[in-house]
This record gives sequence, structure tokens and C-alpha cells, in this order.
Amino acid sequence: MNTNQIIQEESQYIMQTYRRADIVLARGEGVYLYDTEGRRYLDFMSGIAVTALGHSDPQVAATIAEAATTLTHVSNLYYTIPQVELAKRLVTHSFADHVFFANSGTESVEGALKFARKRALVQHGEGKSGIVAFKSGFHGRTMGALSTTYKAIYREPFGPLLDGVSFAPFNDLEAARALIGPDTGAVIVEPVQGEGGINAATPEFLRGLRELCDEHGATLIFDEIQCGLGRTGRLWAHEAFGVTPDIMTLAKPLANGLPIGAILLTEEVASTVGYGEHGTTFGGGPLVCSVANVVFDRVAQPEFLAAVTANGEYLRQQLRELDSPHVLEVRGAGLMVGVDLDIPAAQVMAAARSAGLLVINAGETTLRIAPPLIITKEQIDEGVAVLANCL
Ligand SMILES: Cc1ncc(COP(=O)(O)O)c(C=O)c1O
Repeated sequence: MNTNQIIQEESQYIMQTYRRADIVLARGEGVYLYDTEGRRYLDFMSGIAVTALGHSDPQVAATIAEAATTLTHVSNLYYTIPQVELAKRLVTHSFADHVFFANSGTESVEGALKFARKRALVQHGEGKSGIVAFKSGFHGRTMGALSTTYKAIYREPFGPLLDGVSFAPFNDLEAARALIGPDTGAVIVEPVQGEGGINAATPEFLRGLRELCDEHGATLIFDEIQCGLGRTGRLWAHEAFGVTPDIMTLAKPLANGLPIGAILLTEEVASTVGYGEHGTTFGGGPLVCSVANVVFDRVAQPEFLAAVTANGEYLRQQLRELDSPHVLEVRGAGLMVGVDLDIPAAQVMAAARSAGLLVINAGETTLRIAPPLIITKEQIDEGVAVLANCL
């Protein structure tokens, strides 16, 4: 099938919920992707902040092959080694005491909200079910997660959503204080907002939320699905803020593109959830966990994280030096970068794609750059040169 046939059959057979770019991707290697016509693209978006180790990584490929010929799936009715090994890695390198494995970001958020509800019920009885979330926040598309996602076009077609969710402006501690009270069971926040425009929380804001949650016995959930696991140059984005949550959700990069989610939580929360109260058929399977162990060991290396920090600073510096009249602001942390424009981001994305660079947006006028974490300075130069031309 040629490119046009694929595009035509996609529209015939696949439900139309995605507006896709008109290229058909066939393979990837490192930070490059290739379409069916043999055109090469520099990947400045890594499948929406997912393929941290790049495409076709040999160690990831070998791990998948080995798991495929050893053990792929058994359900959670039995123990498997890769799952326990991954849990141990995540716990020993974080604030958490335990992990629950899921299959996606939204499912991790769903579980996090359920665990917060259960803790509230056990510790405070009924009625403490309010959830405070933030404007421009994105937490996923399933009913619970969607209820905490801010954007109206995602929410409005699917109501009624969860009762008792309220939104405060991001980084506005006084507004949050007005919403968090005795009825609040959970507060959910991205330490660095991704979809909402690459907005980093201030340390005072996150610390203030921690204090408010402690004061009211509410569960503080950090959604690090996009900003976690090395993306900001720290293993966890919240390390930069000197504050820890009760629950943290992870997903995107954890298995370099295989579906996985993880909910990291404290003993205090975990101990309130009993056998059989939550579960999943696929979560934490041996194949995905084997790959996640590889990803974790590579990303958690201090040299790897230092390179993300240095390359992120370099990227932002190069973008600032573009000196384009269309660039209003360059911001972000590590290799999670937002470029505010005075023109629609979609225009620049399309031009970049024609010139061999894949980049995405975060809102109408913000370009989002989230390359594989293995990107080099030379490859950053290559992508920035394309952007310079397009702008
Ligand atoms: C911060 C955050 N939370 C949750 C999600 C939902 O993850 P998924 O698309 O895997 O359901 C996303 C996805 O973009 C995200 O960025």
C-alpha cells in the first residue's frame, strides 16, 4: 500500500478522533524516524515525551525479544521477577513505599484518585471526596482522570463527570487555599504542566500545596506522567522543588513506548487499600517490566541525567538566540521545552515536518519540544536550524 492508500484506509476503517499529519511512519532509529517514502525526520517529540532512549534501541530490542521468547503475560494472579525488580527500583529511588502497575497514564491517574478516595474513607469516613485540580492541567481521558483535566473540549462532550472537582489557577496558592478544605480528599497537580503549555510550578506553590494537604488530611498527587523519569534532568521533576507527594503517577517513558503506567505511593495511602479492591489484567506484565528495568537503569544514571540538563539548557539557549520576531518566550526544564509564538504553532509544525523535523504543540501558540533524552548537541543544532528557517 502506498502512502495515499494508507491515509485513505485509515479514514475508512479507524474512528476519526485524531487529526494526523499526512505522513506514514515506517521505522525509527535513535532520534530519527523514516516514512514510507524513505524521508528522514529528526524526532523533536519522541511520541509525546515517550521514547526516552530513542527508537530501536538495541538493548530495548534485545530485552523485548528475550521476554517474547521467555514470558510475556501471566496476569497478576502470580508473581513474576521483572515486576518485583521494577517495583524495587522505583521504590528505592523515590519517596514511595509501594507501587501499583497500570497500563497507561490515564489509568495511573484513575488508580491514584481511587487510592486517595479510599484513604479518605478509611481515615475520615464519608464525605471527604472533593478533588482540587488546576487550570491548564491534563491528567488523561478516562472518566476520573478526565474530571481533573481542565480543557473544556475534552470534558464537555462526556458529562456528567465526577462530582466535587474544582480547579484553581496554576501557581496561585491563595486560590488553592480557598478551595482546599475539610471536604478535600485529593489535590492533583503536574509539577511541570505538559499539555497545558510547559508551565513549571513554583517551589512555593508546591510546598504550599503540601502544607495544605497535611493540614486537611488530603492526599497530594503529583502527576509526573510527562515530566517524570529524567525528562527535566532530574529523575523526578519534583526533586527540584524540595517537596514530596503522597502519590506519584508515571507512564509515558517508563517502557520506552510499550504501554505501562505506575502509581507510586506511601505506606500510609497503600495500607488503606485492601486485596481485590483494585486490579488490572495486563498491568506490570513481565515483558513491559523487563523493558522498564532497562529504561530505568539507563535514565537513572547521574551522567545520563546531567546530559539531559546540559542539553536542555543548550537547546533553550539556541532557541533564544534565534532572535525570531515570532518567538515570545522560551521556557521549560531539561528536555521539556515550550516556545511561545505570536503565530499558530500548527503552522510551524507543518513547515518543520516538510523540512524533516517532527515537533508538536502544547496549546494553540506554544511549540513543544520533547526529543528523545539521548539527543546530542549536534542533533539539537540540526533541529534548531530547521526551526530557524521555518520561523
Ligand atoms: C501529565 C499527563 N497525565 C496524564 C496523561 C495521560 O496519559 P495517557 O495518554 O497515557 O493516558 C498525559 C498524557 O499526555 C499527561 O501528559
